[in-house]
Amino acid sequence: MARKIVVLLGPPGSGKGTQAKLVASYCGLPHISTGDMLRTAVTEGSDLGLRVRSIMEAGALVSDDIMRDVVKSRIEKLDCRYGLVLDGFPRTMQQVQDLDSILADDSKRLGVIQIQVSQDTIRKRLVGRRSCLSCGKVFNVYESPSSSGMLCDACGAPVVQRRDDSEEVVNERLRVYTQQTEPLVVYYKKLGLLHNLDGEREVEAVHKDIVDILKRL
Ligand code: AP5
Repeated sequence: MARKIVVLLGPPGSGKGTQAKLVASYCGLPHISTGDMLRTAVTEGSDLGLRVRSIMEAGALVSDDIMRDVVKSRIEKLDCRYGLVLDGFPRTMQQVQDLDSILADDSKRLGVIQIQVSQDTIRKRLVGRRSCLSCGKVFNVYESPSSSGMLCDACGAPVVQRRDDSEEVVNERLRVYTQQTEPLVVYYKKLGLLHNLDGEREVEAVHKDIVDILKRL
């Protein structure tokens, strides 16, 4: 049976992670977030975490070799046999080729969804983002701050800023996206695999459009 493979593409802060979770749950497929996998490795202090920590904190990309190994071993797991939702991979043309070789024949059946958001919105979303250390609830200091500003309204644990969400590192992440990831948009468009949507709207409205796209695939 053909696997359903969804790729969420878009700049940092466009909502890839938010939408990937919803799509994965809607389709009953695993959500594979390379950013989350790397952050877990950093938190656990594993060999991988030690290798990637400073790269992530600087807003640069982890090497294609490392990413290929991380993604290959994840996609080979049994829960990906019916499909998967990729969030944050591929991010370079080399990663596109690596994904093609990992997926083999299924690579021709990708649904690539590009979420478009202005740089102003991205800065506000990322620089203002705070997350609870314990339950992961997300706040935004400009739009939806926690009541005390420092503690989670849901569980009372401290809320913190992601280390790569400082203004300086967000600017670097955006620069890297333009230079290394935007060419993928042109590539997938030429193959007829790309679907665009406006990510400036409410989460639910964006999700509905993604579901409509998936129904047509
Ligand atoms: P990664 O974790 O993938 O980060 P990113 O893509 O830079 O960006 P985010 O996760 O911050 O944004 P997002 O688009 O997922 O948006 P989100 O849903 O979170 O990667 C981190 C680092 O890991 C990289 O910089 C790199 O170092 C390394 N890395 C990862 N993958 C790699 C790879 N393949 N190759 C090499 N290196 C790699 O939303 C953002 C905020 O906006 C949230 O607060 C959310 O609540 C809010 N929001 C979302 N949607 C909406 C909406 N519609 N309206 C209002 N607010 C919204």
